[in-house]
Amino acid sequence: MTKIDVLLGLQWGDEGKGKIVDVLTPGYDVIARFQGGPNAGHTIEFGGNKHVLHIIPSGIFHQEKINLIGNGVLIEPRIFKQEIEELEKKGIDATRNLYISKKAHLILPSHRMMDAANEQAKGNMKIGSTLKGIGPAYTDKIARCGLRVGDTLAEDFRERYIMLKEQHLRMAQTLGFDVTTFRIDGLTLDQYEAQWMESLKTLQRFRFVNSEYFINQCLRDDKKVLAEGAQAMMLDIDFGTYPFVTSSNTITAGVCTGLGVAPTAIGRVMGITKAYCTRVGAGPFPTELFDETGRRLCELGHEYGATTGRPRRCGWIDMPALRYACMINGVTDLFVTKPDVMNDFDQVCMCTAYEVGGQRTDEIPFEYNTMPISPVWQSFDGWHQSLEGISAYDDLPANLRTYLAAVERQAGVRIAAVSISPDRKDVIFR
Ligand code: IMP
Repeated sequence: MTKIDVLLGLQWGDEGKGKIVDVLTPGYDVIARFQGGPNAGHTIEFGGNKHVLHIIPSGIFHQEKINLIGNGVLIEPRIFKQEIEELEKKGIDATRNLYISKKAHLILPSHRMMDAANEQAKGNMKIGSTLKGIGPAYTDKIARCGLRVGDTLAEDFRERYIMLKEQHLRMAQTLGFDVTTFRIDGLTLDQYEAQWMESLKTLQRFRFVNSEYFINQCLRDDKKVLAEGAQAMMLDIDFGTYPFVTSSNTITAGVCTGLGVAPTAIGRVMGITKAYCTRVGAGPFPTELFDETGRRLCELGHEYGATTGRPRRCGWIDMPALRYACMINGVTDLFVTKPDVMNDFDQVCMCTAYEVGGQRTDEIPFEYNTMPISPVWQSFDGWHQSLEGISAYDDLPANLRTYLAAVERQAGVRIAAVSISPDRKDVIFR
């Protein structure tokens, strides 16, 4: 029996997971998503083209691989249909190698309305949600009133759908939300609902499976399985910067609940970090830069959200957060992305500890959101060199290797690979 390997983001998302999964895919038979939904935007670049995936696992560009959407994932059928159509335009027929758990929950149009209603009601405590309906759909899952992929085949599906939608409309009214002016992609709720219902036909063209049996059989058959995380560690519902988080367990433990595999079945845990740090949406970010350096990181790193297009907040790498991520997830292999963004910097900084309330700490304090946190900095000389064409770790500029060695020492995990451009071919394995 083989073990399932895991790949996840260790910061606030957008670490380059889609690309790394795509690079690793040739070594796996099955790529499985275990949490999140269309809030994710996994960008993959090859052959000079950019591809963005939201719900579909990043192994879809390799037609001989099986891609699985696990029970822990949320599916929004209309977004799913759009994603399938985008793939079709590129000549990819996903019906052959994409399987979907019958237990994956659905995002209804009214979940998206509730996301907007909840954000509006939060006033200046807004989370900066992607507004794809994630929070409300997971709320209904936990409240035991959600609808699942397998339910779309039931005779009473429409009745259950209407009951849930009416509940949402009552809730929106209580929050003082104006449903009449609410739009999704320029459509009223009713117009969007008609398209959503139509999209169920596309969803039903795919193979619905009892994915927990499927995945465990794959492991028994010695197939190599990779679990692909979405969002990232610091957005985890339990260990992230609550309440500025997403509504799922983005961590290794989420693989067990989101796919139905035992903790003893987890193999390697590959964690991805940028060589600096970014965050979209609201919430604490102690190493954020509000100056010219922050703006340079944003511009040179093309730090704009793949799902929402929002500019990402940028700052230096945060080692207390990264150490925390390595501990919670049991990271065995560290992947560092985008050091090339800092090629022309005179100096590169790293936060090694925090000062909170006059005390120095190496830990993520409970008061992360409520108390001012001052980073303790260590600075490094820049390398002033293009990384283009480098294919061996030891050929990286000496100053960059010094910086990476410090990341490794601080994180307590060996760097397994460094990605030096958006292209598939530019991942240097050690
Ligand atoms: P939600 O999951 O759409 O409700 O968003 C909750 C928070 O997580 C917001 O701050 C979002 O910006 C952030 N978020 C959600 N998905 C992603 C992602 O895939 N990458 C980065 N941030 C994300």
